[in-house]
Amino acid sequence: MTINKKFVDQFAIVTSKAALASSYFVGKKDKIAADKAAVDSMRSNLNNMDIQGQIVIGEGELDDAPMLYIGEKLGTNNGPKFDIAVDPLEGTNFAANNLPGALSVIAIAEKNNLFEAPETYMEKISTKVNEKNVVDLDYSVKKNIFNLSEYLNKKPENLTACIMDRPRHNKIIKELNDLNVNVKLITDGDVCGALLVTDDKYNVDIFLGTGGGPEGVLAATALDAFDCSFQGRFLFETNDDKNRAKKMGIKDFSKKYELKEIVSGDSIFCATGITSGDLVSGIKIKGDQFVSETLVTHKSSGLKKVIKLEQNIL
Ligand code: FBP
Repeated sequence: MTINKKFVDQFAIVTSKAALASSYFVGKKDKIAADKAAVDSMRSNLNNMDIQGQIVIGEGELDDAPMLYIGEKLGTNNGPKFDIAVDPLEGTNFAANNLPGALSVIAIAEKNNLFEAPETYMEKISTKVNEKNVVDLDYSVKKNIFNLSEYLNKKPENLTACIMDRPRHNKIIKELNDLNVNVKLITDGDVCGALLVTDDKYNVDIFLGTGGGPEGVLAATALDAFDCSFQGRFLFETNDDKNRAKKMGIKDFSKKYELKEIVSGDSIFCATGITSGDLVSGIKIKGDQFVSETLVTHKSSGLKKVIKLEQNIL
């Protein structure tokens, strides 16, 4: 089964409207308002679609999140059954502080094909090389860099690794420095960070480090369409984390997930820029119209491109 291509445009409209809604709060120092605007817009537009959707990744569990909570059913109930992962505002700091890289993101797969990820951290690794045993979460940083260097026929000093600038990554960053690898530090937004391996124009060979689990699942969906590699391992630090994971059916807390275990079958991914960043430009308002840029992928049709939409604000 494949997902009809008409849904690509429909989901791109959903993320572009959510991006517009959030864009009014750009630079207003209010992360919560910027997020809420995107959530409200995304939820009401998904509810207007002829789908039987269910949130697998959203704003949290029902107790914490009244909208777009895990398990929430969306759509008119006429149409195909989809698993839906959303991050209506990815990069709340970026939006609040008018910094590059705020996105509105959605990933869709056919029912039961997208991993229901708990709200915990995830160790991640992605590269453009989709070959087994080149790069692996279980390998040391050194082994990954040497393998990648050999595979790509590039010296370590000509490789670039993208990683979030966090104290938890000090050891990895030191190892990369010692290997003379170029390190691209990002302050937030690791959906985008992971996707920088998808095109040579970004000049990133490997993305690694620990970030949000939900963001890992979203990035994995696009990486699958780009035929890149991804592995993730959830980190369950507290008993509470473990209990929630158990409820979601996770038995092995230290399991390394391969991309195909996170997303399988056909999928759609859309990421619209709220503020301009590496992947896409931000929302531009022109009178009663707005222009949005969305990175879209559709696995079965091989579509992977940035689309520009001009729509009425209304
Ligand atoms: P928000 O949009 O929820 O603020 O998340 C931004 C983000 O940078 C994610 O891209 C990333 O996965 C996560 O935060 C990392 O979390 P932390 O800031 O705790 O390191």
